[in-house]
Amino acid sequence: MSASKTTAIIDKLLCDFSPERSNIIPILQAVQGRMGYLPREAIERISDYTKIPEAEILGVASFYAQFRFKPVGKHIFTVCRGTACHVRGSARILRELEKEIGVKSGETTDDMLFSLETVACLGSCALAPVMVIDKTVYGSLTTTKAKALANSFRKKGKKPKPPQKTKPKKIILNLPGRVRGTDYGTD
Ligand code: FES
Repeated sequence: MSASKTTAIIDKLLCDFSPERSNIIPILQAVQGRMGYLPREAIERISDYTKIPEAEILGVASFYAQFRFKPVGKHIFTVCRGTACHVRGSARILRELEKEIGVKSGETTDDMLFSLETVACLGSCALAPVMVIDKTVYGSLTTTKAKALANSFRKKGKKPKPPQKTKPKKIILNLPGRVRGTDYGTD
């Protein structure tokens, strides 16, 4: 996407918010919800709009694990690595997915079809081991099921039906994390 198109999208999103400091996180969430990550241009525009220095906005964004600074694939596989999922085999599931998808956790495939990531707990421990693909929760996973899901997404290029009868649950990942780098690199 061109920088000008990105800027136009961000400017449109900003119309929904007043330029208050307290709106920084909702603005960042809105941008990531629309773009899939926080482009460099977004930080610049948010800074212009709110009059908050870019470094400060980056500091806030990098504190929260929910924000990304690089483009992600069409489908995001998020494997839970919390305790309940760990004791029920999430490490094996992650290994299988890394093999099947062809990238390590935190990476995106070259064709931008898949991103693979992990999270500390998805809040669905009763269904452990759990994974979220895009916004749908898949519980009681096995390595076979995880592999079948990856294959299904790859072959069909769209979401398969969830393998469980529970209503798809929207997960908002709002987990505080350590301060991370932004992956923007240095200018
Ligand atoms: S530990 Fe995996 S959902 Fe809670």
